[in-house]
Amino acid sequence: MAVQFSAVQPSPAAGRHPDFAPQLKQWQVRVERELSARLPAVETQPSRLHEAIRYSVLSGGKRVRPALVYATGTAIGLPESMLDGAACAVELIHAYSLVHDDLPAMDDDDLRRGRPTCHKAYDEATAILVGDSLQCLAFELLAEGPGLPTDSSVRLELVRLLAIASGTSGMAGGQALDLAAIGRKLSLAEVEEMHVRKTGALIHVCVMMAAACAPHLPDHIARALDEYARATGLAFQIQDDLLDVEGDVAVIGKATGADRAHDKPTYPSVAGIEPAHERVQELHTRALSALAKLDAAGLQSAPLAAMSDWLVLRKY
Ligand code: IPE
Ligand code: IPE
Ligand code: MG
Ligand code: MG
Ligand code: MG
Repeated sequence: MAVQFSAVQPSPAAGRHPDFAPQLKQWQVRVERELSARLPAVETQPSRLHEAIRYSVLSGGKRVRPALVYATGTAIGLPESMLDGAACAVELIHAYSLVHDDLPAMDDDDLRRGRPTCHKAYDEATAILVGDSLQCLAFELLAEGPGLPTDSSVRLELVRLLAIASGTSGMAGGQALDLAAIGRKLSLAEVEEMHVRKTGALIHVCVMMAAACAPHLPDHIARALDEYARATGLAFQIQDDLLDVEGDVAVIGKATGADRAHDKPTYPSVAGIEPAHERVQELHTRALSALAKLDAAGLQSAPLAAMSDWLVLRKY
């Protein structure tokens, strides 16, 4: 299905944060450039795999996770040039998770970011290999790529954080819970656990990786960032569930009604639409109040507050 789709749309948070829209755009453009430079060239073999990798990564996502890395870094005074490696690595893991998530064995979706999913544009074997390759490349970038602190203990910590967030206690484990839940009735606590792992962990790690690039960050600031990131990660997946029900396919660039069609328990299907919106607002409030500790320490919480506003108000 051909749809009009542009991931880089005006931020609905612009009213409260007039400087945020251009800032977000700059981070989106920056990470596109950094990703493109780090992905294998189509001209090198195996060129079809490399083409599918570039198709899947450079396809106009919102770049929420890199933006969170940059926003956190900005809040704690790090230069963007020290954050590019982490921003790219987490986006590569995210892109891999989407390619696999769309496979027939998982959500069996045909549309992603307004275009055919990777296995539709190429084939299933290629899509599996795209995911495998992106995961490896993410860790390669953390181990030896540019755009990170040079201290090897910081790099090791980044590898550790991203591995945990991607593995069975994070994204992959959450995806397993998601698949095991098909056709079952879950409690709200079980839905939240699934969401925290399948999506929350990768959102959370963006903030924690930026914090890890500043090893002398005071503990109470790291704890405040942790609290912000946990609330934001869970809110993000509840909002994604809501968009599956209330969103417009031409705006979100992926199918709507897919969760229901697959008989998947989601936050709105278990709690109801209004309680789901209320939970998102509650988590947003929690995220913003965690940021007060940054302000009290003279740090710049505005980019993270604007991110949270954007993520809960987003329509795509
Ligand atoms: C979609 O993530 C999948 C989830 C984890 C909910 P995004 O909404 O960040 O997707 P893109 O990257 O903008 O396409
Ligand atoms: C995706 O959740 C979570 C991961 C990709 C890890 P969904 O299955 O709800 O994401 P969409 O709606 O297909 O983007
Ligand atoms: Mg899924
Ligand atoms: Mg899906
Ligand atoms: Mg979804």
